[in-house]
Amino acid sequence: MMTQERYAKIAGWGKYIPEKILTNHDLEQMVDTSDEWITTRTGIKERRIRTENDTNSSMAVAASLPALEMAGLKATDLDLIIVATSSPDYLLPPVSSQVQDMLGAKCGAFQLTAGCSGWVYALATATQFIKSGAHNNILVVGSEIISFALDYTDRGTCVLFGDAAAAVVLTPSDEPTGVLAFELGSDGSGAEALQVLGGGSSNPLNQAVLDKRENFIRMDGKAVFKFATRVVASSLKRVIDQAGLLPDDIDLFIPHQANARIVEAGARLMRQPAEKFYMNIHKYGNTSTASVPLAMVEAIEEGRLKEGDKVAMIAFGAGLTWATVVVQMGVGAVSPAHELFSGARMSYMAKRARNRVVDTVQMAMVPLYTRLNRSRNNKKKDE
Ligand code: ACO
Repeated sequence: MMTQERYAKIAGWGKYIPEKILTNHDLEQMVDTSDEWITTRTGIKERRIRTENDTNSSMAVAASLPALEMAGLKATDLDLIIVATSSPDYLLPPVSSQVQDMLGAKCGAFQLTAGCSGWVYALATATQFIKSGAHNNILVVGSEIISFALDYTDRGTCVLFGDAAAAVVLTPSDEPTGVLAFELGSDGSGAEALQVLGGGSSNPLNQAVLDKRENFIRMDGKAVFKFATRVVASSLKRVIDQAGLLPDDIDLFIPHQANARIVEAGARLMRQPAEKFYMNIHKYGNTSTASVPLAMVEAIEEGRLKEGDKVAMIAFGAGLTWATVVVQMGVGAVSPAHELFSGARMSYMAKRARNRVVDTVQMAMVPLYTRLNRSRNNKKKDE
């Protein structure tokens, strides 16, 4: 007897944005920077910073309540809570147990840390619990107070990040919906590009750590930029292919909101119009693991993402890590790749083969394009 396949539907969502706004002009008073530099190099105009009333757990709960209400569930209906974060209230307990208690839920809860990729990792993980039949209702939160780890004397990092939280509730469905395909990636050889060296068991917090400012984020921006531009397009292409779709079938791309230039490069390498790549980076900067779910919630609120749409989401960050999902919002049509002997399938196979040839040529051209760009920029500097 064939068993019915189970899917994990995104049945509710919510967000929490701290009230306090830190603009580029505010930052001009704090470090040697300018609104013009930040806007042109990153796309960021302002970001939110937690107030004294905000904690990671309170922000997670504030994002979760509307998600539960929309899903028509009470906290006691939850079977599992996953909170993705790199900035929990404390080293112990895990913030997930605080959230479980504050919501009044009676279920397992765990914290997941995978840098900025954490929430997408958590979404893919939660989906497996529902697909396997182990659980029914799961809350997946991304909550981040990344400002606590920012060195407001380092203009290379403090202008980039902000605080926020967002959450979704997953429920079981027999219809194809939710995460259709995913990829979880890690390349620890690149760890030095993005680190907080102090405060862990290898280098516990003490005066020497504070004096060396090792309790703050250190980043090799150029290395992260290079990694991110490569991984965004390549991982999106693999996961879209795994879902039996073509990039043209994706209604909206939601990339990690780290830098508008990374997003634009991703769109170019995907040969997709830039307008298909959602951005709210100008309002919030990089909110780490809250970035992708916050962008998803706002895309829905703005009518950019609707029932029946297919959305591809990608996050990347410390680790180095990345995580990519293709998600069906509501219920959609079956992908032509999964139909047998149909005209739609033949056309899909032909377009897929053509894309592969163009991708190979394009990737071979990237180093040449980068070199040309660099010499053009150097020439401009000399003039
Ligand atoms: N204001 C003014 N000047 C600045 C600033 C600033 N805020 N920051 C750096 N500069 C200066 C540098 O000192 C450098 O000056 P120099 O030429 O005299 O040495 C100049 O600007 C150019 O610096 P670059 O590092 O080459 O600038 P770039 O164009 O690479 O942009 C940036 C830097 C924005 C950090 C970029 O590299 C980037 O976005 N990288 C990716 C970062 C990222 O995505 N991180 C997070 C991912 S993981 C996560 O989300 C946790």
